[in-house]
Amino acid sequence: MSTYRWNTNEAARAYDAAAPVIHPLYDEVQWRILELLAPVASGSESFLLVDLGGGSGRLVEKVLQRFANARVVLVDQSPAFLAIAAERLARFGGRFELVEKRLQDDWAVELPAAPQAIVSTSAIHHLVADEKRQLYAKCCAALAPGGWLINGDEFRPAEDAEFLARLKRWDAHMKSAIADGRISASFQATFDHWHERNIRDFGAPHKSGDDCQETAEVQEQYLRDAGFIDVETPWQQEMWGTLIGHKA
Ligand SMILES: C[S@@+](CC[C@H](N)C(=O)[O-])C[C@H]1O[C@@H](n2cnc3c(N)ncnc32)[C@H](O)[C@@H]1O
Repeated sequence: MSTYRWNTNEAARAYDAAAPVIHPLYDEVQWRILELLAPVASGSESFLLVDLGGGSGRLVEKVLQRFANARVVLVDQSPAFLAIAAERLARFGGRFELVEKRLQDDWAVELPAAPQAIVSTSAIHHLVADEKRQLYAKCCAALAPGGWLINGDEFRPAEDAEFLARLKRWDAHMKSAIADGRISASFQATFDHWHERNIRDFGAPHKSGDDCQETAEVQEQYLRDAGFIDVETPWQQEMWGTLIGHKA
């Protein structure tokens, strides 16, 4: 069986070093999540947040910097990404925990208390539809009353032609960024596999771990079915957006 692409040290280091180039709206998504979190964080003395698929801890670092009352649990299945997160977050010792688990596993059992917020960026689209639905149900069950789920992720448009056009624009962006060195050449193999699965084989069935983007509208319904209220997608641009829901 081949190694899941996020689990090699090379892919994790290359992604971490160039994340805001690889994902052209990376900083914007994170900024939007921090703004959404501000009223949630200010409403509680101690603010517990979970980052699902939190990778190398770039968003968690910003949360811990901005909200002095925040504690964070970062869940990720990749030891390679978690090792980078441990380095990045070392100065916040005592305010974070790293949990090596799949989003499909029972990560909620690791939480010290019910969180006020669960966030995720660029991770949940790796789950197939049923896994997303189960994950959202798990999130709703785990959250404290009044808590928020915010997923800053990749979403596809409903029409295939527009989806392929957006994928091709990102493909062109990646090719030029690797060619001019803004992204390390060590990311080439990860990108080549992405290209094969998403452009060359566009429309082929996807399995768990692939890029399984679904529309925001479909996932809004998953959130409602999971028990969330006030579900909406307040921002979307190209392949990215923020999907949010509120636990009553
Ligand atoms: C593109 S990276 C994004 C990392 C981080 N959220 C960020 O925005 O910088 C995708 C992350 O999702 C994690 N991931 C993918 N599938 C996962 C799963 N089924 N369970 C847990 N983590 C997963 C990977 O290990 C990786 O750290």
